[in-house]
Amino acid sequence: ETIIKKIDRNQIDQVIMEEAGSILKNGGLVAFPTETVYGLGANALDEEAAKKTYAAKGRPSDNPLIVHIARLEDLGAIVESVPLIVDEIAAHFWPGPLTMIFNKNEKVPLGTTGGLETVAVRMPDDEIARELILAGGGYVSAPSANTSGRPSPTTAQHVAEDLSGKIEMILDGGSVDIGVESTILDMTVTPPMILRPGAITKEMLSEVIGEVAVDETLISENSTKAPKAPGMKYRHYAPKAEMIIVDGEPEEAVRAIKQIAYEQVRLGYKVGIIASNESVDQYTTGVVKCIGSRVNEKTVARNLYKVLREFDEEEVDYIYSEAFPEAGIGTAIMNRLGKAAGHHVLQASEITKLQDYR
Ligand code: TXA
Ligand code: MG
Repeated sequence: ETIIKKIDRNQIDQVIMEEAGSILKNGGLVAFPTETVYGLGANALDEEAAKKTYAAKGRPSDNPLIVHIARLEDLGAIVESVPLIVDEIAAHFWPGPLTMIFNKNEKVPLGTTGGLETVAVRMPDDEIARELILAGGGYVSAPSANTSGRPSPTTAQHVAEDLSGKIEMILDGGSVDIGVESTILDMTVTPPMILRPGAITKEMLSEVIGEVAVDETLISENSTKAPKAPGMKYRHYAPKAEMIIVDGEPEEAVRAIKQIAYEQVRLGYKVGIIASNESVDQYTTGVVKCIGSRVNEKTVARNLYKVLREFDEEEVDYIYSEAFPEAGIGTAIMNRLGKAAGHHVLQASEITKLQDYR
């Protein structure tokens, strides 16, 4: 039985936090909110707890976990060395939606790092997360608290849908703030390299540390190389339906999606459409869900996984999505949408008749 406890972020119940902390110390699993997505917490220094984490998620065990800490001074105890530049980065972005990769030391079991000699570390900003980490002993591994292959959870209900009965406890802190996973920055290479885009953008990092590289597998969809973050190779964030992104000028994309949706519905398919505030009233067929305004990418990020989960419930056959501007967190939004779509992108301007998209 999974215990679900509501937590008021402004008045955190210490009795519940102690209970959750002792579950972690005893090798159990506790899901908790962070500012990005809900995490599935376990003691990061306990190999057996890592095994349970992989089993609960149904996740391949070569896909490493992120170790969450609550105090900067705790970093030195689990990594080989802390490069000077890390203090600079941490001063700007920790606590927050940034994960950094270091060479690990012997304190971190290979079970936690998927067999790698490096370890990913993040200091989350969410107050519930920070208190849980401290109550649990200071080092809490936490992948996103979804079943492997499903969209990441942004509410406690999403976690319960996937993991109820498989974990000891869920701390319900309501909806998360950001909605997409943290930026991952590899500090073991020079210059540091972004392995996964998130709310902390390349531009923000460059302002602090100068040159920043980006894993080429994130830039080129056709790259045959394996991504450097093992998890990025999986078709994560996958909705059950076949998903297609329709790229192009907004009006052109709406016209193209309307045309495709009309034809697909006529052929008997159930069609989902990811629309924006600006376009939602223009669609007349299909299951239309609004993801937020095109000019407010933060809202789009916050709604993204919720909308994908809703389409899973609706059991649509196809999902067509407009493309969103790549500014700010837009890079992360398009990365996740692209992965959900298996990088299936159509150019709106090229769609003139039925055969064009079949
Ligand atoms: O926002 C987040 O980062 C959330 C919250 C819960 O903190 N966590 C999260 O964890 O997204 P997860 O396990 O779903 O994604 C971790 C990603 C995977 O793609 C994994 O391959 C990569 O981080 N990763 C972890 N350790 C790594 C390492 N040592 N080297 C390269 N990639 C690593
Ligand atoms: Mg994940």
